[in-house]
Amino acid sequence: MRELKSLFEKNAKWSKDVRTSDASFFERLSQQQTPDYLWIGCADSRVPANQIIGLDPGEVFVHRNVANLVVHTDLNCLSAIQYAVDVLRVKHIIVCGHYGCGGVEAAISKPELGLIENWLRHIEDVYSKHEKSLEKLEDHASKVNRLCELNVIEQVVNVCRTTIVRGAWRRGQALAVHGWVYGLSDGLLRDLDMCLSQPEEVDSALAKAVQRSVNGIALAVDLNSQPSDTPTV
Ligand code: CO
Repeated sequence: MRELKSLFEKNAKWSKDVRTSDASFFERLSQQQTPDYLWIGCADSRVPANQIIGLDPGEVFVHRNVANLVVHTDLNCLSAIQYAVDVLRVKHIIVCGHYGCGGVEAAISKPELGLIENWLRHIEDVYSKHEKSLEKLEDHASKVNRLCELNVIEQVVNVCRTTIVRGAWRRGQALAVHGWVYGLSDGLLRDLDMCLSQPEEVDSALAKAVQRSVNGIALAVDLNSQPSDTPTV
């Protein structure tokens, strides 16, 4: 039990399988990484970045935290963005949330969870900002899923307002920031129409994406994704 033997066995099999289909895969990858994408997603175990978008190791740089937040003073997230943009020179930053997010749900129902409640305050701020439209939704699942979308939209804006992205755009570096939501119940991604590559686009894209979410276009396809009673991030 202490050695988690089964995981080492799975690892050995995976390594062998990869080498069987591509003998020089690890050797090549150990030299350098050249990902085109930075993925900022939820830590939820059901939302693995590489698998969802069908990319191999080396093709996507990943930062995950509870409820895919980009907090202005979070040095962990900012460092990942800075390294991805300035050093790896990724061409795309993808903020990807997911319907039925336990972190988002907890920000609405506010169970006692301890320290993490402080982190979830950031989602409560998103809720407060969009309270008017969220309060119109009667059932809990719709409210959670709408807030999942609005949270992504707001985090995309936060990415765009970092000194890192503003600096890259000022230098003329090609960099686009995207907002997506993943459906746990069908394994599919939805584009929230937040694709930004210029600072001037931010405000109008924000208004447009919020309106699109309020109209329920992306939401309508995934209402079966019910948040569980026990938040699971
Ligand atoms: Co989540």
